[in-house]
Amino acid sequence: MRTETGRTIHLADYRPTDFVLERVDLTFELDPTETKVEARLIFHRREGVAPSVPLVLDGDDLTMTSLLFDQIEMDPARYTATADSLTIRDLPASEPFEITITTQINPEANTQLMGLYRSNGIYCTQCEAEGFRRITYFPDRPDVLSVYTINIIADKDANPLLLSNGNYLGGAGYGEGKHFAAWFDPHPKPSYLFALVAGDLGVVEDTFTTMSGRDVTLKIYVEHGKEPRAAYAMDALKRSMKWDEEVFGREYDLDIFMIVAVSDFNMGAMENKGLNIFNDKYVLADPETATDQDYANIEAIIAHEYFHNWTGNRITCRDWFQLCLKEGLTVYRDHEFSADMRSRAVKRIAEVRHLRSEQFPEDAGPLAHPVRPNTYREINNFYTTTVYEKGSEVTRMIATILGAEDFKKGMDLYFERHDGDAATVEDFVKCFEDASGKDLSQFALWYSQAGTPHITVSTSYDANAATLSLSLDQMVPATPGQATKEPMHVPLSFALLCHDGSELTATAISGGTVTGNVLHLSERSQTFVFSGVTSRPVVSLNRGFSAPVVLHFNQSNEDLAHIARHEGDLFSRWQAITDMALPSLTAAASAAAKGDAVAVEPSLLSSLLAIAANEALEPAFRAQALTLPSESDIARAIGKDTDPDAIHAGRQAVLAAIAKAGEAQFEALFKTHSSSTAFTPDAEGAGRRALRNAALGYLSLSKNSPALASEAYAKADNMTDLAQALTILAHRFPDSSETAAALANFEQRFGSNALVLDKWFTIQATIPGEATLDRIQTLMKSTHYAASNPNRVRALVGTFAFSNPTGFNRRDGKAYHFFASQVLEIDQRNPQLAARLLTALRSWQMLEPNRANSAREALQIISSGSELSNDVRDIVDRILK
Ligand code: ARG
Ligand code: ZN
Repeated sequence: MRTETGRTIHLADYRPTDFVLERVDLTFELDPTETKVEARLIFHRREGVAPSVPLVLDGDDLTMTSLLFDQIEMDPARYTATADSLTIRDLPASEPFEITITTQINPEANTQLMGLYRSNGIYCTQCEAEGFRRITYFPDRPDVLSVYTINIIADKDANPLLLSNGNYLGGAGYGEGKHFAAWFDPHPKPSYLFALVAGDLGVVEDTFTTMSGRDVTLKIYVEHGKEPRAAYAMDALKRSMKWDEEVFGREYDLDIFMIVAVSDFNMGAMENKGLNIFNDKYVLADPETATDQDYANIEAIIAHEYFHNWTGNRITCRDWFQLCLKEGLTVYRDHEFSADMRSRAVKRIAEVRHLRSEQFPEDAGPLAHPVRPNTYREINNFYTTTVYEKGSEVTRMIATILGAEDFKKGMDLYFERHDGDAATVEDFVKCFEDASGKDLSQFALWYSQAGTPHITVSTSYDANAATLSLSLDQMVPATPGQATKEPMHVPLSFALLCHDGSELTATAISGGTVTGNVLHLSERSQTFVFSGVTSRPVVSLNRGFSAPVVLHFNQSNEDLAHIARHEGDLFSRWQAITDMALPSLTAAASAAAKGDAVAVEPSLLSSLLAIAANEALEPAFRAQALTLPSESDIARAIGKDTDPDAIHAGRQAVLAAIAKAGEAQFEALFKTHSSSTAFTPDAEGAGRRALRNAALGYLSLSKNSPALASEAYAKADNMTDLAQALTILAHRFPDSSETAAALANFEQRFGSNALVLDKWFTIQATIPGEATLDRIQTLMKSTHYAASNPNRVRALVGTFAFSNPTGFNRRDGKAYHFFASQVLEIDQRNPQLAARLLTALRSWQMLEPNRANSAREALQIISSGSELSNDVRDIVDRILK
């Protein structure tokens, strides 16, 4: 294991390798504990590199058993091999040469789940970012592209399936109960896209005919017996392939596309060329075991990994600083896909909720970093919501600034110019500049400046001159390593709404650039003046969340209610409701802290209930409106010295007031949407269930009884309804006999289904209040708990730390201490998982002083742990700084 080295890598230090890798031939003799890997690598020295320069290959925890130079054993004086590197000297000045390295690795003991490991009897790999160096010595960096031939030898009975990237060449028996298979991938690729899978799995098969008429075989491999649960993933895959042809003009490029689902996986999924490997959570679904959210996630992640074939694989990253080049862009593509498959507005609301609850806190705390960082100690810690989700928003802003047509031209140019390249963010941006003729140099600050811009807005209306002035100030907060910032180019989509709700077309006469309905803020302070404004309009700003910023715009409740009623952009209607709710919620938190009664703004109640009752609006949207800002949203609005108990109590009081005011309406909604239509996992069915369950939540509050939820639990015929009912029971009535009965029933029904059992753990881990820590410690002792399974750890410890503000931040600090010991323990086996969990403490400095002190103590305990991984060391150092 790589323990802390403290070495920092800088973007500015990038330079190409000294040797060019021409070809890679790998032979794996698989064995659970003694796998032999033979790597034949053909190199030549890059032009201009002095003959004295040695070849230095990366390794991680490797044991080399032999080294050949042009097929002859190498003189030990010519090389130095350590667990972490192989240096070879006296190599030819210009002609190609061949190195054959044999290493021995232990997949069974690989608990980090990086490199080649075994999960449930299945051999699989995870090489991004630096896992390949745990298989063999290699120039393990994304700008080394090569063509791979792979031979796999393994026991035939245990491993009827032998898979790797590219196209299948052939296979045969190999004696002694073994067999072999050979694969060839004609597309040059970096090592992080290598994959191998071997074992015994079931398969679902289909075909797809590409736009140029080629037939592609599609295979999804899952555990035997789970094949029917892969049907939705297959459907999502075919829709993704078609969509990428239609929208981006991109066609698949091999004869076969495979997906393998495994149950122990550090992340969501991985886009290995032609052989995607997935966390089975994002493959397996049926109505009985998967929620609507699970279906939506599967659709999005199947699409995401498939889309990487062009944005990531055919065009990859020059170095890991450019990670957003593939991730931000690919998230943008999967967001657009889901928007086209489902309701665009509802999808956008969900994206923005996610961005605000995950990325904004990251950008506002000690872990803030630019979308393209310029230094790192551990690259695994940069697979962040900033790189992914803010990276996607940056791409979206390019589309907004350029307009659909020029954006498409820019994308086409990018594919044309850089196919086969390891590219940079500069290459990407240049394509859009060249395609549109626009200067994006100021815009590019979005890649290099961290921190969420804050924009303060004010308006003044001059009736005599019939003008409206809109003044904007931007401020980008200081972030680690970046004390001062330049003003950014912020594209703000807007509308001016008249009395009757129609949109006013006004002319911008001064102050800055306005194109169509987009206002381009580019200076620190700017006042845009519009003429021809015959009555005071209501300004709707940042429509569709065109820029990922925080707006400070004190609009009156009347104006917000006007937007909530009339905006053509549904996202903005939801935003207006949110803007009305936040002041009530923050006021409720301070009232609750003082023990005062909580008052709720009447215009909030009426706007909310009007939207909920509006049959012209889609149910999914109405459900979103009824879902108030979360406790962490409220904490962020308060900004400092936050008290999670007060926030929770205040929010509950506001919910209760809404529940009371809308009781009759919620009863009606619950009834109408309960009618038993056959289950379909599409957005429409999901929307109906979401609205019905939102109503059930409010009704359980107003009646203050578990009866309704208990009845809903008994009647549920799909996992969404079942899990929602169980959540209401457990979170609202944790000590009731109804809750105990439902939890026991759920455990008994789904005890053998790991993915469903994860929900049982999550629902209990997120029960608000102090008592949950005890419950978690008890659950960890249950036979269901498995510390080696990342999904299970995330379901229990992860959701507790990330999604249970009152339980995790209990006053006495005990939960932080429990958490610290968990992080240290997990770090021993799986550093990446431990480091990711630890980021749950990233906002500790926002807590009121007592809790902040306890959190700091827990962080110090982690920091003084012996043998910390590089992953955890990096995070704890940055969080404590
Ligand atoms: N590239 C994968 C994706 O599609 C994720 C890989 C994550 N790797 C890591 N070391 N955390 O998003
Ligand atoms: Zn990705």
